Amino acid sequence: MVARSRAFLDRKGIAEARLDAELLVAHALGLDRLHLFLELDRPVVEEEVARARDLLVRRGKGEPTAYLVGEREFYGRPFRVGPGVLVPRPESELLVDLARERGEAAPPDRILDVGTGSGCLAISLALAFPAAEVDAVDISEAALAFALDNARLHGVEERVHLHVGDGLAAVPSATRYGLAVSNPPYVDPADEALDPGVRAFEPAEALFAPAGHPDYWVERLRSEVVPRLVPGGSLLIELGYDQAARLAAWKDEPGFRVWPDLAGIERVLEITTPARAT
Ligand SMILES: C[S@@+](CC[C@H](N)C(=O)[O-])C[C@H]1O[C@@H](n2cnc3c(N)ncnc32)[C@H](O)[C@@H]1O
Repeated sequence: MVARSRAFLDRKGIAEARLDAELLVAHALGLDRLHLFLELDRPVVEEEVARARDLLVRRGKGEPTAYLVGEREFYGRPFRVGPGVLVPRPESELLVDLARERGEAAPPDRILDVGTGSGCLAISLALAFPAAEVDAVDISEAALAFALDNARLHGVEERVHLHVGDGLAAVPSATRYGLAVSNPPYVDPADEALDPGVRAFEPAEALFAPAGHPDYWVERLRSEVVPRLVPGGSLLIELGYDQAARLAAWKDEPGFRVWPDLAGIERVLEITTPARAT
């Protein structure tokens, strides 16, 4: 069944046909991927075949696998997702790695995540820094419903404070942060390289920068968030694959640094405020 499912998704032009076929068939059979292979000889009933067929047809039309199975792994943990929230991407794990490194010597008391979506960054950081309080903001109530669900799933709902609002509007203006992260909407709406399934199914407010203003969020986060950092604090912003080149003029400014991801793409802009003089 897995081989035929994979062949079907291949014909539909799905890039990760094998992985998606395994995840969808496992989901239809009520198994995880490992048990799919351990139970290869298990008889399959007609109802399960029909369920798998429905999922594969929907995937073939572009619906994200993570929506179809209801979750996606991020930083080694499951996060619940569905229509209305961005599916966490592996490249965003670099934000968590860098934030953890920054907080190694002096763990931050308070962390900010702007555009939290599923809460994958805020929750991963709450787990990495067990004494920290985390403010997680998003303009989308639908996304925040998933973030709340995920905070409960991972037992950090007491320390991850969810705020609905535009940018920092909903967080108290006196709060200062040792660490801030953001994976803002940075896709150019005119980008023809964007997967049509992503464009059709994932929320536009999570994907797209304002038309004609691709660096809107970098500029906005720089002016709104940097003044909220404690001395020596860091803001880490995820960048689109072609964004760092446009920010070249900033790279030599003190406190600015760009970090590559595993594919060598300049992926994260870090802005660090000067440490307090001793
Ligand atoms: C690229 S998604 C990132 C989601 C999640 N942090 C992740 O890495 O998977 C951007 C998020 O920013 C939110 N967003 C868009 N405009 C916003 C605004 N003006 N203020 C706050 N959040 C906003 C979207 O709803 C979306 O959840």
